Amino acid sequence: MSTASHLLYLVSAVAFVVGLHLMGSPATARRGNLVSTGGMVLAVVVTAVVLVDDGSIGGTALLVLVAGLAVGSAAGLVTARRVRMTAMPQLVSLFNAVGGGGAALVAFAEVLRAEGVLDRAGVSLVLPTVLDVLIGALTFSGSLVAAGKLAGRLPGNPVTSAAGRVATLALGGAAVVAGLVLLTGRGGTPLLVLLAAAALALGVLLTLPIGGADMPVVISLLNACTGTAVAMAGFVLDSVVLVIAGALVGAAGAILTLLMAEAMNRSLTSILIGGYGTADTAEAVAATGNVRATSVDDAGLQLAYASKVVVVPGYGLAAAQAQHELVALCSALEASGIEVSYGIHPVAGRMPGHMNVLLAEADVPYPQLRDLEEVNPEFARTDVVLVVGANDVTNPAARRPGNPVSGMPILDVDRARSVIVIKRSMGTGYAGIDNELYTDPRTTMLFADAKAGLRELLTAVQTYAR
Ligand code: TAP
Repeated sequence: MSTASHLLYLVSAVAFVVGLHLMGSPATARRGNLVSTGGMVLAVVVTAVVLVDDGSIGGTALLVLVAGLAVGSAAGLVTARRVRMTAMPQLVSLFNAVGGGGAALVAFAEVLRAEGVLDRAGVSLVLPTVLDVLIGALTFSGSLVAAGKLAGRLPGNPVTSAAGRVATLALGGAAVVAGLVLLTGRGGTPLLVLLAAAALALGVLLTLPIGGADMPVVISLLNACTGTAVAMAGFVLDSVVLVIAGALVGAAGAILTLLMAEAMNRSLTSILIGGYGTADTAEAVAATGNVRATSVDDAGLQLAYASKVVVVPGYGLAAAQAQHELVALCSALEASGIEVSYGIHPVAGRMPGHMNVLLAEADVPYPQLRDLEEVNPEFARTDVVLVVGANDVTNPAARRPGNPVSGMPILDVDRARSVIVIKRSMGTGYAGIDNELYTDPRTTMLFADAKAGLRELLTAVQTYAR
């Protein structure tokens, strides 16, 4: 490889690091995405040029490479453009599957290319090959199951059985033994195939028992696994840029996994053991007390005469695609001198940063977005909290033990002077339990679809504007 290609790979690697850094803030995230994409395009182009230049591929292989690039890019572009915001977790999961599966196939391609390499090569090549196949194949099948669960094509609740647990342990043991035998230079390609089969089955068996509210953490964990498998593929191919890209994804995914587990107050071990949030084990918290319904006029009047309003968006806002209506209402409130901010819970919606992305799309100024720690002390000084399609992230039951949201840090909206909740019914949220906020004497319910309700509220607020 020439010095020029080394240098260009270095530029790619720097673009990945800088891009990831920029993604740390909503204000620079788009730029970060573009910078990382630029790095990846550069790495792919340089690799293709190097392969053609040194005569590694030509003729049919080159055609396959170009066709693969075209099909992959088109499929990625079309699905990412078409996907609804609420279906994003499934798409991320499918991308994880493709990444993990692709990395495992790279290892196989190398093993088949250099026949007998597993018996000849030292541990430094066999170890990454084994890890690549193990983690890559497990991520592939696990991510497909996760995507199926999120899309409602497989049961969303945990699927557990004693036989499943025994099979998981047996397959896990078999995979470890196969890996160790391969490391001693025996077994060759047939054993690697068996290892891949065991890993594929393990991916299914490990993901099926996880369900309910734990799915986002699992998707993030599978993302970390994809990165690790890709880094291993980098060692197999001796490609520094692939190692760097994979390591960055692996590390970022691992950090996100821990942050999300923390935000849901769940330990990673308990998530991986599974069985949480089932329809059978989830203990419903019975709502006691009266629910007070309000009208658009009353809610509009209440908002128009407030001094400080905090908006709490949730999954329902995304489902209704009502972000623009919400921002229009907030702008009207601000125009009449009312202080408005948004309280963002880390797991509001259905993917990390879901609310930030949604509100950024509607051009909400970033300083108005307050995270949980920032906004919670403000509720006691807030006149009206407007909860739009959020449920679990506001449930005071989380402060007590013994229910599926126990221990999850919540937005303390019940500490405000009054709360207006916009949702369509008394239906439950993701965790499937009643929300005690709805029977709080300070709460009134505005039963409406978020989009229609916010539109009507805007008219009412304009009528009563001081
Ligand atoms: P949820 O608790 O899921 O509640 C959403 C509420 O929105 C529902 O109760 C629903 O009530 C309402 N809704 C649905 N469509 C609506 C519409 N068109 N108009 C108005 N309201 C509508 O949402 P949340 O408070 O954002 O909490 C998120 C939950 O999802 C947490 O349990 C979290 O653990 C879980 N989760 C999070 C993620 C990430 S990473 N963010 C990923 C997966 C799961 P109605 O049917 O009565 O309208």
